[in-house]
Amino acid sequence: MKILVTHEIPDRGINLLKSKGYEVTVGNAFNKEELIAELKKDRYDAVLCDLNDPIDGEIFDAAGTQCKIFANYAVGFDNVDLKAAAERGVMITNTPGVLTDTVAEHTFALLLAIAHRVAESDRFTRAGKYHGWEPMLLLGTDVSKKTLGIVGLGRIGSRVAHIAARGFEMKIIYYDLQRNADFEKEFSAEYRQDPDEIFREADFISIHVPLLPSTLHLADARRLALMKKSAYLINTSRGAVVDEGALVAALKSGTIKGAALDVYEHEPALAPGLSELENVILTPHIASATEETRQAMSELAAKNIIEALEGRTPPNRVKN
Ligand code: DGY
Repeated sequence: MKILVTHEIPDRGINLLKSKGYEVTVGNAFNKEELIAELKKDRYDAVLCDLNDPIDGEIFDAAGTQCKIFANYAVGFDNVDLKAAAERGVMITNTPGVLTDTVAEHTFALLLAIAHRVAESDRFTRAGKYHGWEPMLLLGTDVSKKTLGIVGLGRIGSRVAHIAARGFEMKIIYYDLQRNADFEKEFSAEYRQDPDEIFREADFISIHVPLLPSTLHLADARRLALMKKSAYLINTSRGAVVDEGALVAALKSGTIKGAALDVYEHEPALAPGLSELENVILTPHIASATEETRQAMSELAAKNIIEALEGRTPPNRVKN
């Protein structure tokens, strides 16, 4: 069996695939044209791809009918055309679960950092501007006992709520398509039927929805204008869930107090003006990037491939 891994990833999954006797080719960040050329050059039985790879009908056709599975190295799979995969009988898998704690930790790191002006203070100190303690220097915002609005109560959203409720006694309000009575009971959380209510009430909003036509620009200019002037927006899901241009305008005009982002609408580009703002924290899509978690994702993606190639249903098959 021949496996194409489209970018270098931590070695655990690669070693697992090799231990099965599979021939593994690791690519070097192909663009779409290069990926098509590589898929046509050799007949691969499986592809381990990631969120940089636009996986669509053209890619499946280039890969050929012997290629049974595209295992996405990510929990999100908005880079994959599921309809085109279904039409061709190609299996798609993702890597849920193993990154939940890590992404929730990063989300909370961003939340604390923007509230306590950590990055801004770091820049200030390094610039030699610290000349002694001052009562009014770089005042931030408390997190404890404030209201956290979770948009999207999946694994990661629930974990962020857990940290907030247990660690910081935050009041949790949430929006999701589905109401979760057990969660509400466990964390004294309150459901809101309309995302607008979250935008209106929360002191911190954390977004955890997948990118779908229905969630594109969920945080648009209208909803940002509903937020309290003192509120913050945190996004570790997918960039295009937030209208980034509208966010820059809201941050500049003081419509909201700040934002912390790990994901961007047109990655790796940033909306004009975003990086010049002091009231934002920007990380380069690294919320799942710890050594442990990236190894675990590597292993899980490889296991999905092995299950598929051995004729079983992979554990993380995405329904398409
Ligand atoms: C994902 O898994 O979808 C993240 O964005 C990258 O880990």
